[in-house]
Amino acid sequence: KQEMSLDRDCTTLSRHVLQQLQSFSPDAQDLSAIMNRIALAGKLISRRLSRAGLMADVLGFTGETNVQGEEVKKMDVFANDVFIAVFKQSGLVCRLASEEMDDPYYIPENCPIGRYTLLYDPIDGSSNVDINLNVGSIFSIRQGIGEDLNGDASDLLQDGHKQLAAGYILYGPSTVLVYSLGYGVHSFILDPSLGEFILAQENIRIPDHGPVYSTNEGNFWQWDEAIRDYTRYVHRHEGYTARYSGALVGDIHRILLQGGVFLYPGTVKKPEGKLRLLYETAPLAFLIEQAGGRASNGEQNLLDVVPTHLHTRTPLIIGSAEDVKLVESFIDDH
Ligand code: AHG
Ligand code: MN
Ligand code: MN
Ligand code: MN
Repeated sequence: KQEMSLDRDCTTLSRHVLQQLQSFSPDAQDLSAIMNRIALAGKLISRRLSRAGLMADVLGFTGETNVQGEEVKKMDVFANDVFIAVFKQSGLVCRLASEEMDDPYYIPENCPIGRYTLLYDPIDGSSNVDINLNVGSIFSIRQGIGEDLNGDASDLLQDGHKQLAAGYILYGPSTVLVYSLGYGVHSFILDPSLGEFILAQENIRIPDHGPVYSTNEGNFWQWDEAIRDYTRYVHRHEGYTARYSGALVGDIHRILLQGGVFLYPGTVKKPEGKLRLLYETAPLAFLIEQAGGRASNGEQNLLDVVPTHLHTRTPLIIGSAEDVKLVESFIDDH
C-alpha cells in the first residue's frame, strides 16, 4: 500500500516546498530555489560517495587541519566545494559559512539580490567515510540581520530562532533529505533513477519518549557528574538501548523516527563539547523542535543560545521531549 501511495503521488521536493509556503511570493520562490540547490548538492555528494571506494583521490585525508583543529578529509573538501559550486551562479545566496572554512565564502555577484546565507556542515561524521558507513550533510538558511558592515559576518551571530529553514541529508543505504521551513518536518528519499527527491513522510512527529540513548560513552570520565548520573540511571533501568554511529545525522535520524535522546556534553578537554552551533546543533534543534521534540545545551533551550563567533560550540542534549527533560532533571539536581 505504501509503495502505491508513493508512486501515485510522487510529490517532489520542489513541489512540496511551494505547497508548504502556499504562495508564489518572492520569498517563497527564493526558498524553493535554495532548497532545490541544496538537493542538487545532496545528489552530487551522494553520487560521489556511492562510488568512493572505486575512485582514486576520494577517500582519506588531505593533510590539512581545519579551523576546528580537525584533520580534513578529501570528502570534506569535495562536499564543501559542491555547496559553493551549486550556489555560485544561483543569485540566491550571498554567503556560505561552513565548518570547513575559517571565514564565510562571499559571492559578491549575488550580494545585491541574494539576501540569504547558507550555513552548513558539508560532511557530518567524516570518520565514517573511509569505512563506507553513513554520513550526512547539515544545512541551515538564515537571513542576515542588519548589515554585514565589517565583512566579518557578525550579523550572523544570532540565536537559532532566526533560522528560516534547516535540515539534513543522510547518505545511508538510501539518501534521505529531511527539512523544515518552520511548518513541520518532512522527509524525502532520493530515487537515483529519477534523480529526484520524492516525498516519503510528511509531518514527522518524534515520539515523546524512546528507548535509544546515543552518546560516546568513551568520554564518561570526562563528563560532569550530572551526565554520569544520568548514564548510570540508564544502565540501571530496563528499556534503554545504546546506539552511536559516529555521525550525528544518522543518530538523530534514528531518534527522530523512533524516539530517544542524543547527548554530546562538554568534556574536560572540550567544556563546550564538540558540536558547532551554527552548522550542527542549531539546525538540528530547529528540526527536532518542529517535530515536537526538544534540544538543550544543558542550561538553556538550544535555540536561545547566541554564538559569540562563527565556530562557537555548544553541548547538545536533543531528542524526545520526555527524555531531554529527564536529562535536565539530573542537571538540575547537581
Ligand atoms: P564532523 O564529521 O562534521 O566533524 O562531525 C562529527 C561529529 C558528529 O557527527 C558525531 O556525532 C561526533 O562528531 C562524533 O564525535 P566523537 O568521535 O567524539 O564521538
Ligand atoms: Mn569535522
Ligand atoms: Mn558534523
Ligand atoms: Mn563535518
